[in-house]
Amino acid sequence: MEMSHRSKVFVEIAAEMEALMRELMGIPANYKVLYLQGGASMQFAQIPMNLMVSKKADYLDTGEFASKAIGEAEKFGTVNIVASSKEDKYTYIPDIDPENLDASADYLHMTTNNTIFGTRHAAVPKVSVPLVSDMSSCILSEVYDVNDYGLIYAGAQKNIAPAGVTFVIIREDLLARSADDLPYMFSYKTLAKNESMINTPPCYSMYMAKLVFEWLKDFGGVAAIQKVNEEKAQILYDHVDNSKLFSNPVRVADRSIMNVPFVTGNEELDSKFIKEAEKAGFVNLKGHRIVGGMRASIYNAMPSQGVKALVEFMKIFEVENK
Ligand SMILES: Cc1ncc(COP(=O)(O)O)c(C=O)c1O
Repeated sequence: MEMSHRSKVFVEIAAEMEALMRELMGIPANYKVLYLQGGASMQFAQIPMNLMVSKKADYLDTGEFASKAIGEAEKFGTVNIVASSKEDKYTYIPDIDPENLDASADYLHMTTNNTIFGTRHAAVPKVSVPLVSDMSSCILSEVYDVNDYGLIYAGAQKNIAPAGVTFVIIREDLLARSADDLPYMFSYKTLAKNESMINTPPCYSMYMAKLVFEWLKDFGGVAAIQKVNEEKAQILYDHVDNSKLFSNPVRVADRSIMNVPFVTGNEELDSKFIKEAEKAGFVNLKGHRIVGGMRASIYNAMPSQGVKALVEFMKIFEVENK
């Protein structure tokens, strides 16, 4: 952990990490991979800072993080909200009316998986401008075609590594947009030119990312984990949909395979469930404070047995609390 980031050993770790990520995600040669700090939240600002050259961008409003990204972008230019499901508590992915799209927008920003609300874009929106996506809670969970995007970003802390590193996968032609007077730590162009090593990168998190990428490769890659993720989610959704106690408010076609929210409809019973679940060894099931209830986050590291055990616990709780 005290190793210099310029040492031969660490430079090799970084190179292996990037090569594995490129292989797993099929990242084409005309994309740069940046490893930065500041979390996905910093990207909410860094994206418009670099890419909003004509000071206007289209955004999809599909949840809390999408709306935070919108708030930050508004500090740099005009944000056109193309579609929103806010009025319905973000329980679905809204359709895009092509008339709302601005062909001269600098980019369209989307959040592929909405962590808090448990929705996900099952299809890539068709747009003529570069697509920018926040994949923080779904990167490497299913196969994505990187060619569909101008920029993909994700904090590491769900499917990749402990918090610390944030990945930005950017198509090279977009690097030219970074203004020369941007502070160097914020300029995609300068960061890319310096292999993200202008200063000390989040070395430990990157080392862990390399180990996780090796694990995922041995597992069979993204297509293999996608199959497991879809099975895990289906087990949980099937149980919730057939239960008389639990329910999930999300439109079926838009359901996330990473985050499954569910409620009993009674706040006291929800609290009781969370407490008893914790005693039985099921931790982190409390839903985000905005939505309440429960949320099972079933990222790549959660095996099927974990989901099956949760379903068994839910069955017993339902019988005992009829
Ligand atoms: C989809 C999404 N975007 C952004 C964030 C914020 O990420 P960070 O804490 O890395 O800034 C999160 C965190 O949970 C998230 O799930």
